Amino acid sequence: MSRMTVNERPVEFDLDPRMPLLYALREAMNLTGTKACGGGGAECSGACMVLVDGVALRSCAITLAEAEGRIITTIEGLSRDRSHPVQQAMVAQGAIQCGYCTPGIVIAAAALLQRNPAPSRDEIDAAIPNICRCGVYPRLVKAVAQAGRVAQRQERVSAAPAPGISAEDAAKAVPALRVLQVE
Ligand code: FES
Ligand code: FES
Repeated sequence: MSRMTVNERPVEFDLDPRMPLLYALREAMNLTGTKACGGGGAECSGACMVLVDGVALRSCAITLAEAEGRIITTIEGLSRDRSHPVQQAMVAQGAIQCGYCTPGIVIAAAALLQRNPAPSRDEIDAAIPNICRCGVYPRLVKAVAQAGRVAQRQERVSAAPAPGISAEDAAKAVPALRVLQVE
């Protein structure tokens, strides 16, 4: 048995404690926002990053035993309505293409801004080692900087509506969208 808190819920996994946390999250909890790149280890893509006690770590490299008693936050737990400044800024800056790397990058960026809301370019590069095969890095750096300004209330951004709402409600939330009447 391995006990921990996942997205604010105390949970117990009746799984092999040597199992990577990644598999337990995706397959036992259906938290498939955390991605797997098929590699693993410190040099790998980071698509599987989650917050462990507030630190962004690769969930493929942590066993359930190592996660015992920890507080885990996945992309689903970061913000259910996409209101986190990093989520909004990633959309605003167009820093998402296929999106496979995005959850891990958002987690890494959120952890960075939590401890340093105004990171330099070098600090962003150091804190976000994630690999993006689509090459969104220049826009990613802009998004993290913007998210820092939003987190400090120096700027507001509304680019990504909450999931599952109507087009009309999305248009109220996102200035870039207008819903046209059908004649
Ligand atoms: S699964 Fe690739 S870095 Fe974790
Ligand atoms: S957006 Fe495609 S891998 Fe990063």
